[in-house]
Amino acid sequence: MKIGVVGTGYVGLVSGTCFAEFGIDVICVDKDAGKIERLKNGIIPIYEPGLEDLVAKQVKAGRLHFTTNLAEAMEGADAVFIAVGTPPSVIDGQADLTYVFEAAKEIAQNIKGYTVIVNKSTVPVGTARRVTDVIRAANPNADFDVVSNPEFLREGAAIDDFMRPDRVVVGTTSERARAVMRELYRPLYINETPMVMTTPESSEIIKYASNAFLAVKITFINEIANLCEAVDGNVQDVAKGMGLDGRIGSKFLHAGPGYGGSCFPKDTLALVQIGEQHKAPQTIVQTVVDVNNARQKSMADRVIAACGGSVKDKKIAVLGIAFKPNTDDIREAPSLVIIPELQSAGAKIAATDPVAMDNAKKVLNNVEWCEDAYATIKDADAVVIVTEWNEFRGLNMDKVADLVKTKCIIDLRNIYKLPEMEERGFHYVSIGRPALIDGKAASKIRAA
Ligand code: UGA
Repeated sequence: MKIGVVGTGYVGLVSGTCFAEFGIDVICVDKDAGKIERLKNGIIPIYEPGLEDLVAKQVKAGRLHFTTNLAEAMEGADAVFIAVGTPPSVIDGQADLTYVFEAAKEIAQNIKGYTVIVNKSTVPVGTARRVTDVIRAANPNADFDVVSNPEFLREGAAIDDFMRPDRVVVGTTSERARAVMRELYRPLYINETPMVMTTPESSEIIKYASNAFLAVKITFINEIANLCEAVDGNVQDVAKGMGLDGRIGSKFLHAGPGYGGSCFPKDTLALVQIGEQHKAPQTIVQTVVDVNNARQKSMADRVIAACGGSVKDKKIAVLGIAFKPNTDDIREAPSLVIIPELQSAGAKIAATDPVAMDNAKKVLNNVEWCEDAYATIKDADAVVIVTEWNEFRGLNMDKVADLVKTKCIIDLRNIYKLPEMEERGFHYVSIGRPALIDGKAASKIRAA
């Protein structure tokens, strides 16, 4: 089989490369000639573990090609994937579909035989129908079907997510298109990966509802963490106790500084907009958006409190800028809220991140950028762990104790054990876990 993939961003490049790994002939197309040239030379525009090697392998095998010419990508293709960006509109937060419709028009002009047009971009409900109308208007004689096929890839784990997904969702009412989709996902189909065959509308909702539900889950456990802090509970134990209930599940119950990234913040806002537009208010999701925004901001207060009420002229070492590990993506990262808040409270910031520093330098000012964790924490009044990179999980605490000015660690990802840190004499503040003093919960001592 042969497919074209329009857009060599995160979704397009990962999907195209993985389809090539499935044995399909893939041509990825992008308008950005420089990007295509770099891809042809093996230079990958995003950081995603394993992607560079897989692209090289598939290019070498002759199954993965790059071009700026859509007609070439569509020549003999069974399906064309639309994987262009849908950034939130600056006006109302709704997904901006300009690139999707532009791609649809161009595709329309190049349809020869029966072609399945697959929407992989995250798009509002009704977009598959609108794309159908755009194509029909541009090329009334075209023989085609439009399918909604949302992606559920996580940055940093995208290849594994594509190769071993929990499910594949295919939204179309055309049996002919379903057959093509089954064939494209044949290796997964054989592996008995569940395939949800549904309408385009349901498929489009599944994408938003899944991301929004995960955002709800995270925000829920974050609020439970606040309660744990107030009553000496331990949120990790609570999450474990809840998660073992098969109806709840243990994933996405890690309390932290609030979710970020290019998906949850964008998709929760878009779902709220879609609900408003269709007079089906998404009140829970709206609340989650508000609670999450407030949470990211409140993390700075936590640091200030740990520093005795003021960070004025203090050196705060920030470990981790990316919104999560294994990515250089800093979009909507908690660090981008916490650092400016601390700066406006008078703190001097030193920071590091294993791969996101180049991106961070473009948006954060007056930060002393350091090569690694140890260089960052030198003479620090407090160390804040914002992203749970492996590099920060196994720090030599003797060395840390020697380097810092004050033994104060604010661990926003709960990657260290509380009693151990306190035994070592650190003032250690984490999330949803009570501080211990001589093995007793701090609040109990306060109350006594
Ligand atoms: C998310 C979804 O998990 C993917 O299924 C989806 O395909 C993708 O969005 C998308 O729509 O493209 P991603 O944004 O890469 O993937 O990252 P996640 O691993 O989901 O993490 C999102 C945020 O939630 C991060 O800031 C992370 O730190 C936070 N998080 C996650 C928590 O605070 N606690 C958790 O238990 C899990």
